[in-house]
Amino acid sequence: MAEVVAIVNQKGGVGKTTVAINLAASLAYLGKKTLLIDTDPICDATMGLGFDRYNLGASLYEALVGKAEIANIIKPTGVRKLDFIPSSPLLAGADVELATLYEKNRYSRLKEILKNVRRKYDYIVIDCPPGMGLNVNVLSASDDVIIPSVCHYFSKQSLIEAYAAVRRIKNSFNKKLYVSGIVLNMYDPKFNINKEIEKEIREMFVNSRVYRTTLPRSNKIIESQKAGKTIVEYAPGTPAFDAYMSFAREVINNAKSEQN
Ligand SMILES: Nc1ncnc2c1ncn2[C@@H]1O[C@H](COP(=O)(O)OP(=O)(O)OP(=O)(O)O)[C@@H](O)[C@H]1O
Ligand SMILES: [Mg+2]
Repeated sequence: MAEVVAIVNQKGGVGKTTVAINLAASLAYLGKKTLLIDTDPICDATMGLGFDRYNLGASLYEALVGKAEIANIIKPTGVRKLDFIPSSPLLAGADVELATLYEKNRYSRLKEILKNVRRKYDYIVIDCPPGMGLNVNVLSASDDVIIPSVCHYFSKQSLIEAYAAVRRIKNSFNKKLYVSGIVLNMYDPKFNINKEIEKEIREMFVNSRVYRTTLPRSNKIIESQKAGKTIVEYAPGTPAFDAYMSFAREVINNAKSEQN
């Protein structure tokens, strides 16, 4: 039964999509059958994997509103053991449509449609848009949450707020949700500010997990996105690839299912 991991932060541009794509690819590389789902109407993960958002056929949108079977929207990728569900610009405003179509069940639609595929995967990794949007649906369907952050002055406060927002949704919609931790992204030890803020974040969240692995700022990551590929395909053996392997191993060891 898949462990469903949501990559969430209300703050934009902290690396949610980059972490979702490359964590999913790394879990697959380590032998875990993985499904990556793009829930952002901007479709960055969809494009980052080399798909054309306007020429996809059915997407997550059609499955959520009941116009397609989930099995028919899953696509293979260039990474063995990694499948993908694309987003669509139509997902913008889908929360309003879901409220009309499903009323009381509007927040559990994603959970409902994932029921039929959970047993086929070890991990389902979900990329979320910034802000809230469909995130109640995502967090209702998830087992774990990973919050990516950057190590800048402004990121500390938004991290506190992101953590609090996730806990509010946990308390109202999904008591079993496990906030598995924070991962520090675009980290560059050449910048003292990154080291300073890392230390402060680790001290501030001493009772929660901050993943030991930091994900380096890397040109290989940027180039891989331009090429529509994951780091596993584009730059195996590089420091960015090694960091993702180390992070994926931490995620596997820290998974909720491993805690029980
Ligand atoms: N480790 C990294 N090294 C270099 N650049 C990175 C790294 N991680 C992310 N980036 C770059 O930072 C930018 C923001 O990353 P990304 O799109 O993943 O963030 P996001 O949180 O998903 O943004 P949004 O909130 O808009 O969805 C992108 O241009 C991406 O290429
Ligand atoms: Mg994104």
